[in-house]
Amino acid sequence: MKIILLGAPGSGKGTMAQKLTGELQIPQISTGDIFRKNLKEATPLGLQIKDILDSGGLVPDEITIEIVKNRLAEPDCNNGYILDGFPRSIVQAEALETFQNIDCAINLSVDKQIIVSRLSGRRFCPDCNGTFHISALSDPEVCPVCGGKLIVRKDDREETVLERFRVYETTTLPLIDFYARRGKLITVDGSGGIDVVYERILNALNK
Ligand code: AP5
Ligand code: MG
Repeated sequence: MKIILLGAPGSGKGTMAQKLTGELQIPQISTGDIFRKNLKEATPLGLQIKDILDSGGLVPDEITIEIVKNRLAEPDCNNGYILDGFPRSIVQAEALETFQNIDCAINLSVDKQIIVSRLSGRRFCPDCNGTFHISALSDPEVCPVCGGKLIVRKDDREETVLERFRVYETTTLPLIDFYARRGKLITVDGSGGIDVVYERILNALNK
């Protein structure tokens, strides 16, 4: 299956993609994780996009499209994939249509208040890309999956979260209508616990 996960920052795209990737045995392609890896390794791309990521803006479409196009051409994507954080603009969605035919776009719908509390407690593992909430961790500094040191993402600072929201509302929100018009939109209530939301997604995919 070729699935897109849509939703505001903190709506749970990464969390749900990680669960789906295990169940469906298809890779999670997270543009945010790809960019953060480049930042961590200080690659030329990482240096180029550092200020954009830190401020909560969007990496230019041409760069992002090229990266995703190359990644989806790799053999592990032949049986499908879960796109987490791409597309994020109409330009990206239109470009995707020229090289891939996706099955559905799942929109995780969550109230802003819930999202703020999720993001303020998020912890991220740069070693295995695991995402956790502080309320579910026995040690807030140690990754429960690989033992790596957990960090607070730099773009989870309050002012950056607000900017990411602004960008989401102006540039990414129109994608809901874009996929609805193509009959590919599935809207899932993203509020409630992780397992509850995940069940809703599986039920929607089975229909
Ligand atoms: P990206 O990493 O994609 O950030 P984002 O879209 O802002 O989304 P997040 O990762 O913040 O949230 P999420 O929906 O994955 O939620 P999560 O599962 O972590 O992008 C980062 C940056 O990269 C962008 O700002 C941009 O600069 C750049 N970029 C990326 N893609 C791009 C593109 N296509 N074009 C241009 N630029 C791009 O969950 C959040 C928290 O909530 C966690 O703590 C989690 O444990 C918790 N949680 C999740 N679900 C639940 C639940 N059901 N109940 C309780 N807690 C939950
Ligand atoms: Mg994410």
